[in-house]
Amino acid sequence: MLRNDQLDQWDRENFFHPSTHLAQHARGEAAGRIVETASGVHIEDRDGNRLLDAFAGLYCVNVGYGRPEIAEAIAAQAKKLAYYHAYVGHGTEASITLSKMILDRAPGNMSKVYFGLGGSDANETNIKLVWYYNNILGRPAKKKIISRWRGYHGSGLMTGSLTGLELFHKKFDLPFENVLHTEAPYYFRRPDLAMSETEFVAYCASELEALIEREGADTIAAFIGEPAMGTGGLVPPPAGYWQAIQPILRKHDILLIADEVVTGFGRLGSMFGSEHYGIEADIITIAKGLTSAYAPLSGSIISEKVWDVLMKGTDESGPIGHGWTYSAHPIGAAAAIANLELVDSLGLVSNAGETGAYLKQTMAETIGDHQNVGEIRGEGLLIAAEFVEDRASRTYFNPSKKIGPALAAALTKHGVIARAMPQGDILGFAPPLCLTRKEADTIVEATKKAVVDVLG
Ligand SMILES: Cc1ncc(COP(=O)(O)O)c(C=O)c1O
Repeated sequence: MLRNDQLDQWDRENFFHPSTHLAQHARGEAAGRIVETASGVHIEDRDGNRLLDAFAGLYCVNVGYGRPEIAEAIAAQAKKLAYYHAYVGHGTEASITLSKMILDRAPGNMSKVYFGLGGSDANETNIKLVWYYNNILGRPAKKKIISRWRGYHGSGLMTGSLTGLELFHKKFDLPFENVLHTEAPYYFRRPDLAMSETEFVAYCASELEALIEREGADTIAAFIGEPAMGTGGLVPPPAGYWQAIQPILRKHDILLIADEVVTGFGRLGSMFGSEHYGIEADIITIAKGLTSAYAPLSGSIISEKVWDVLMKGTDESGPIGHGWTYSAHPIGAAAAIANLELVDSLGLVSNAGETGAYLKQTMAETIGDHQNVGEIRGEGLLIAAEFVEDRASRTYFNPSKKIGPALAAALTKHGVIARAMPQGDILGFAPPLCLTRKEADTIVEATKKAVVDVLG
């Protein structure tokens, strides 16, 4: 085995890490670690530190680490048929079986699954399909996409544009012009503290209406949103939000893309966030929980309404000019089949709902009264603690204090990984869906200690 100092050196000299302060990493000042093994909800690094991973990697290892069923399915597929493409009607038993399993679980209006590799490329696919759809329908001007501030949809060119977080735009010449952003359904950060939740929902709806009015509905193709926001702060929508938004989209013939990369396959305590909040989407994006990250695989689930137009398009203009070499990769598909079987057999969807409610309640009881805790919120196993300088006036900390990252670092010292979410002092918890109550207690105890360490 290589010495750790040797690996550290090679890491600094050779490895371009994503979403990393490159200069700090090169100088050896960054907070990374070299992870060696993992099992259940724990990871272990090369220095022998064992940590409870309360963010499931990047909220993706939903079934937990070290599941032999998935590892064996991957090995068996690799031995039998490591690869074949899916172009011009080709397929494998794994990719065909998986398509059926996904549609068996998806909302009733869904018709087909297109497979990609990650959430970003799946959303790129979705936008291309929406443009194609409107071209086939003879509406070439209907192309703009509405996203929300603080939404996260990936970091490609179009998807980085859709993402409503500054970090993903600045210095990259994004967002593209045909992307519009509207109000985030973030009640805690409402523009006027006097607004009730109902008033805030009406405000979000009126902001959307006004944007559509300004731009012209005949220029707008689709609206994309996460059923509950992820990277933008782990924010469940205020009650009635989706019920207020959907009629506006329907009225203006604007397609709805539900980005379920985080919420798909159980995280909120329902199989899909769409089901959880009564969303009837035209396209659903899936990734992360599809394979629990044992292999890269994503998908775009296409509704009958969109599919009918896509078929018409190929009758008019020939095969659809969109595909990746690794679309429907059989190893990813084999991993996903074994993963979805585990989600069912272990009852992880209901566990996410039950243990998630317990974790949120225990967290609120333990740190909710602290003077700097602004809100404990969440749905299922997607839970956030937001910190403020002053509770009553809802004054945020000066970002230069980096309270969020300091809390996450302190939490790690107490044996738990949570994520400091961007744009705010927000600790995000999204552990594997197999979390037990005892493990939830460990997360809360460590969080309490970290809060005392950083904020007193
Ligand atoms: C809601 C959502 N959409 C899309 C993505 C992008 O997925 P990927 O990082 O696999 O490209 C993410 C990633 O976190 C996400 O949370």
